[in-house]
Amino acid sequence: MLNLDLSKLSSFLPQDFTASRKAALEQAASMLANHNGPGGDFTGWVTLPRDYDKEEFARIQAAAKKIQQQSQVLVVIGIGGSYLGARAVIELLASPNYNLKKKNTPDIYFAGNGLSTDALLELIALIGDRDFSVNVISKSGTTTEPAVAFRIFKGMLEQKYGKEGARERIYATTDAHKGALKGLADAEGYEEFVVPDAVGGRYSVLTAVGLLPIAAAGIDIEALMSGARQAMDELSVPGLDNPAWQYAAARHAMYESGKKVELLACYEPPFRFFAEWWKQLYGESEGKDGKGLFPASVEFTADLHSMGQYIQEGERLMFETVVHFAPKGEFLIPNDPENIDGLNFLSGKPLSFVAEKAMRGVILAHVDGGVPNILLQLPAIGETSVGWLIYFFEYVCGLSGYLLQVNPFNQPGVEAYKKNMFALLGKPGYEDLKAELEARL
Ligand code: PA5
Repeated sequence: MLNLDLSKLSSFLPQDFTASRKAALEQAASMLANHNGPGGDFTGWVTLPRDYDKEEFARIQAAAKKIQQQSQVLVVIGIGGSYLGARAVIELLASPNYNLKKKNTPDIYFAGNGLSTDALLELIALIGDRDFSVNVISKSGTTTEPAVAFRIFKGMLEQKYGKEGARERIYATTDAHKGALKGLADAEGYEEFVVPDAVGGRYSVLTAVGLLPIAAAGIDIEALMSGARQAMDELSVPGLDNPAWQYAAARHAMYESGKKVELLACYEPPFRFFAEWWKQLYGESEGKDGKGLFPASVEFTADLHSMGQYIQEGERLMFETVVHFAPKGEFLIPNDPENIDGLNFLSGKPLSFVAEKAMRGVILAHVDGGVPNILLQLPAIGETSVGWLIYFFEYVCGLSGYLLQVNPFNQPGVEAYKKNMFALLGKPGYEDLKAELEARL
């Protein structure tokens, strides 16, 4: 599935940068396979493409159909790992313009991923008097942003359809046993889906967390899972020719050589939210104990005209990982007999030819400017290739975290802002911190 090209990295690193990490990679792969490394309780995603709950999968497909029949709009409420994966896959496979298209699936809007009053009011206006359903997603069931949004949309549904009618339109994806959302869903009788205990938020896109909204958008989730399964089978084979081992080794070697930023670049605009998902995956998994590459992203060629200058000549702190998909279609550049624009040297050439040459030129320019390059080449964007890529990035992330000697499956740093916010909002139990923080404001 993947052609991994490290040739534009090698001049920046010792020749044996992969071989010298063999023992560490073996150990990392073994800890992932045996679930016995740091955070091992949260490595259920490693075998998820094979071991996922088939009964729940069928319920997800049935619920997606019901949403499609009942509603013109699906509001998906969640934040972080309970948000980004679904949006990433829907935008990549069904387009960022999905909501603007003529289709027989519902418009999909995301809520509860911030606290913007303007965004909320705009969303309510966009829904208007259309029929809508809600999928509320929170593993902990206590995250403030989605909890507040759910209270609002639950109230709107109950007002529009009555309590009974609302129950038929609310789907709760949460922990199997605990949390406020679990208690609420049980009490109200909502259809429930599970975030498995052994799968953390940012590794949960291939659970009901991502799959229900993705299926509601009409995307083939069986093909998505089969792509992930293919990746799981390929990448679980130990060895230095394993592309996940090679990419993890390259990232780690870059970091040890002094690079601080990994810049993920793609030439396909629908990849933008996939890059957001990738940033959370790597940022939350590696950024701890004072360590970790800062994950950043750019959309080429647009950002060559905004960030290109910095990449070429700014501080030499980054390397670049380019994701390239084969084009799905072809468009030939027309001939113009007058040639006033001087572009006839491109007449009859596919636009993808121009894009490919642009990419090659950019890579060489950036390498010459001191930005090492990793190139990931994939077949055309489709369910199978995207499922494969999701698993690839997750697996490399697990390996990378262990190479860095951090726990890639916790996120203790996220708690700091939550504590302060609760205290400043006057949540019971935070009185002392409230007084201390207010004195500092
Ligand atoms: O990756 C993670 O664990 C986080 O980004 C969570 O997904 C995010 O904080 C949302 O948490 P929850 O699903 O508990 O509402």
